Amino acid sequence: MKQNGQSIGIIGTGMAVPKLKFKNNDFVKLGLETSDEWIASRTGINQRFIAKEEATSDLAYQAAENAIIDAGIEKSDIDCIIVATTTPDYPLFPSVACLVQNGLGLDNIPAFDISAACTGFIYAMEVAEKMMSSGQYKNILVIGADTLSKSCNWKDRSTVVLFGDGAGAVVLGEVKSGYGILSSKLGARGSGFDKLIIPKGGSRTPLTKDNVEDDDRYIQMDGKAVYRFAVNTIVRVVEEALAKIGMKKEDISFLIPHQANIRIIDYAREKLGLSREQVYVNIDTYGNTSAATIPIALNEVCSKKLIRNGDILVTVGFGAGLTYGTNVIKWFSK
Ligand code: UT7
Repeated sequence: MKQNGQSIGIIGTGMAVPKLKFKNNDFVKLGLETSDEWIASRTGINQRFIAKEEATSDLAYQAAENAIIDAGIEKSDIDCIIVATTTPDYPLFPSVACLVQNGLGLDNIPAFDISAACTGFIYAMEVAEKMMSSGQYKNILVIGADTLSKSCNWKDRSTVVLFGDGAGAVVLGEVKSGYGILSSKLGARGSGFDKLIIPKGGSRTPLTKDNVEDDDRYIQMDGKAVYRFAVNTIVRVVEEALAKIGMKKEDISFLIPHQANIRIIDYAREKLGLSREQVYVNIDTYGNTSAATIPIALNEVCSKKLIRNGDILVTVGFGAGLTYGTNVIKWFSK
């Protein structure tokens, strides 16, 4: 999209994960009734990083600093910070974006969080790009950061093995005309709000001394329902975003899907007619880092130089809400 005649795209990427590496067998060592074989074969995950010492903003800040360095700009060139997260450092406020802003020493610019669960980064990209299209912002820092391991029941094998912690960040700025973010499509199916939920601890049912030990204060997921939602949604939303700009799935050069389950990724790859080389997978290393999966993947894809200028890069995600979305980007890097 145009910003004062210029196009808006990714000019820098960064990422950060916690120090503690946690392998599938480490759950077995903790006494969980699971196995490396079950987790790897059903999800594609071999390990993840767990935030013991770190809070979400610590990871978000590190990723942001790396993205700013990568962009080759000064911190003071950033004029807005948007963080996609559902696991802020503090229960209600302040936002993670304000904490990152404080770390960067950037008082006076807008900073706010977006809550769209695992799809949050894609939502944040759309919001940032539309803000920049107004011509009022030049460089927006967009971060996806989550520490869902802290909201998992570590006795529930059906959820705890899936999630890892991490953060990824991009700087959006001006790129060569005709390149950058070409199209986005966001959506939600609120009728499925209860399929992935933390039932207690919010304003509906605050925690009290009588329910503070309940399992409902942790993530509860109908895994099969979320799985069905994902496979029924992600291919359609990608095709809709491409159709908006007169493109088809055959135009996709490279796909970065949300990393929730290798079987969902494989399904999308086959339906979109892509080869394994055209789809980025790192779920084996990080698990599902929620809003961070896509910006972490973006950082790795850039570091490994897997995409070239002019490539059509598509990101697609889904998550609690139930939310979904996609960004279509014509890649340009200096
Ligand atoms: O960002 C969005 C987040 N969420 C998702 O994307 C989740 C989407 N859903 C999924 O990825 C899959 O549904 C799961 C990985 C969560 C589950 O895979 P599944 O193939 O749907 O397994 P299932 O829930 O049908 O469970 C099969 C069996 C059950 O045992 P029984 O009833 O057949 O005896 C489970 O109790 O596997 C059992 N099971 C486990 N066994 C060993 C569930 N979790 C585990 C585990 N280790 N960790």
